[in-house]
Amino acid sequence: MFPPELVALTRHDMVRALPPALFEQILTQHLYRYLDFTTKLELLVVNKTVLAIANGGVDLHLPDEMVFDAYKIYCDEAYHALFSADLIRQVHARTGLPPQLDERPYFLTQLRRLQESVEPQLRALVELLFVVCSETLISATLAEVPDDPRVDTAVRRSIRDHAADERRHHAYFAAFLKFLWYEMDSGQRRAMARLLPDLLLAFLRPDLPAIRCELAGYGFNRDQIEQILAEVYDDGTVNAYARDTSRQTMRYFAAVGVLEDQAACNRFAELGLLEEGR
Ligand SMILES: [Fe+2]
Ligand SMILES: [Fe+2]
Repeated sequence: MFPPELVALTRHDMVRALPPALFEQILTQHLYRYLDFTTKLELLVVNKTVLAIANGGVDLHLPDEMVFDAYKIYCDEAYHALFSADLIRQVHARTGLPPQLDERPYFLTQLRRLQESVEPQLRALVELLFVVCSETLISATLAEVPDDPRVDTAVRRSIRDHAADERRHHAYFAAFLKFLWYEMDSGQRRAMARLLPDLLLAFLRPDLPAIRCELAGYGFNRDQIEQILAEVYDDGTVNAYARDTSRQTMRYFAAVGVLEDQAACNRFAELGLLEEGR
């Protein structure tokens, strides 16, 4: 159901020692979480922004072509949500394994928390920039799963379709960032530059509450769960993953001048998002 190398939990010896059937369940639950994450991201966040762009709800001077493209992205994302929800149902029917999913995934809780942390008039901007992050990050899942012959064909083809669309969205949102950034005033730029590192991590950090619940279901006690999480998701590993995935996004940020703000630069460094020697 998923390549084990992309499911961090499977690196831990205590997890590897589980019976093979349970080990397979971990891969399936990871797939469910990934698909649910995709569905909620597209429906609740990305399409809200794209709808606003198409419908004149974003106060920017965008070329007509970019406004029109937003209609197309809206359809793409709606379809990604549909096939992800569909695939959860199909995998459930095939495996009999009920999906263990939270109402609200981690990224959404974090996004709302970061929006609350700024002045109300900046909250819409935070969401626009979160979409820029999510649309320009290059995840190993989109890049690697389509070509992994061990993975179920339906899963691979869905992710391949998604990756092809996201390459176009990536180009679109890299351009969108420039329009957005140049129309912001200096106060908005400063506030947003300092929030971007946390926005990236809101998207990239593992959903620990959900994984904790899952591990409890395999019979691990509380101490064992915390030990597994501490060893699998140590800061070095989480930061390296975030850095790899956000390399291209960081180039776009640097190009519009985000890193010229010293406080922003410090926050990127503190969260391990800058390349060595920067
Ligand atoms: Fe998508
Ligand atoms: Fe997209």
